[in-house]
Amino acid sequence: MFNKLLGKFSQDLAIDLGTRNTLVYTKEKGIVINEPSVVAVNMRTNEILAVGEDAKKMVGKTPSHIKAIKPLNEGVISDFEVTEKMLKHFVDKVHSESFTFAPRPRVIIGIPIDITEVEKKAVEDAAKSGGAREVFLIEEAMAAAIGARLPVTEAVANMVVDIGGGTSEIAVISLAGVVTYKSLPVAGNSFDADIVEYVREEFNILIGEQVAESIKIKIGSAVPQKETLEMEVRGRDLLNGLPKAIMIDDSQIREAISKSLGKIIENIKNTLEVTPPELVADIYENGIFLSGGSALLRGLDKQISQATKIPVRIADDPLTCVVRGLGALLADDELLRKVLTPGSEEL
Ligand SMILES: Nc1ncnc2c1ncn2[C@@H]1O[C@H](COP(=O)(O)OP(=O)(O)OP(=O)(O)O)[C@@H](O)[C@H]1O
Ligand SMILES: [Mg+2]
Repeated sequence: MFNKLLGKFSQDLAIDLGTRNTLVYTKEKGIVINEPSVVAVNMRTNEILAVGEDAKKMVGKTPSHIKAIKPLNEGVISDFEVTEKMLKHFVDKVHSESFTFAPRPRVIIGIPIDITEVEKKAVEDAAKSGGAREVFLIEEAMAAAIGARLPVTEAVANMVVDIGGGTSEIAVISLAGVVTYKSLPVAGNSFDADIVEYVREEFNILIGEQVAESIKIKIGSAVPQKETLEMEVRGRDLLNGLPKAIMIDDSQIREAISKSLGKIIENIKNTLEVTPPELVADIYENGIFLSGGSALLRGLDKQISQATKIPVRIADDPLTCVVRGLGALLADDELLRKVLTPGSEEL
């Protein structure tokens, strides 16, 4: 009874706690927070100096006693205490900016499909000590499908591939459940690491991961482009320790990331292979839906389509697809109950 009353007045939240980005959604305002999952901590005093965008600016540039921590790794919490503080910071920020009488909100959070019970519990606990009254866990692939407005409760199969920073989640969804899936720790971060390695091996030059990411976004692609894309890259010459600039083009970046891309495509094919034939027929008809920031890599849709012979569509605004799907559940208790991860709290 008391909970019900609280529910009426509190501002419930949907949270996509991603390896790279954390997004928060409220029913009234939609997306209210969209910031990198980074926290800057003063290691001497344990004090939090900055969270999100402000903390990201410090990555790789901090003096030794200040550490910019990314508390999530491959989609799961790797630093519990810092995740908890980051969530609390974001939840407080949402509430301080609204005039609603907002005690402890109900929170819907997206999780990777195959995380362990211990990892699930960690997400729940972090959200609770961040201020949540009740926590509901939803598989991110399911959230992505809802965000892409797919008919998830119908007896029709849809395949969703969410390629974020830390993980690629491949799932076939039908009748409000995940039928077959693969989850692999290969995604945008792997592409960045591949580029760092390639530049080191080919040019003897050391670049940071943020530089690698900007190269990927600027000129990266999965299939050859009509025009050559190239850019100047600056790094440290490993032979003499001095700064050096080189030119790099899209074909080199394709070569750098080809192994990781190949792994993702191999897993999509494997998932199709273990999916019952009736469902595969639906997928051929409806296509594969891509979400997550890495869906924006040039030509990735084309490459997956060529490899699987299935049409591929990129969800609208793929970076926000999961949180919009989670957010839709704030207003739809019936659907929430249907798609809730087993073992999550009862409504
Ligand atoms: N235009 C782009 N081209 C290629 N990659 C991009 C582009 N824009 C963003 N990305 C990549 O998308 C990734 C972030 O995506 P997203 O926010 O969906 O990840 P996440 O949800 O935080 O991670 P995860 O779901 O794995 O926990 C980063 O690796 C980023 O480099
Ligand atoms: Mg994600």
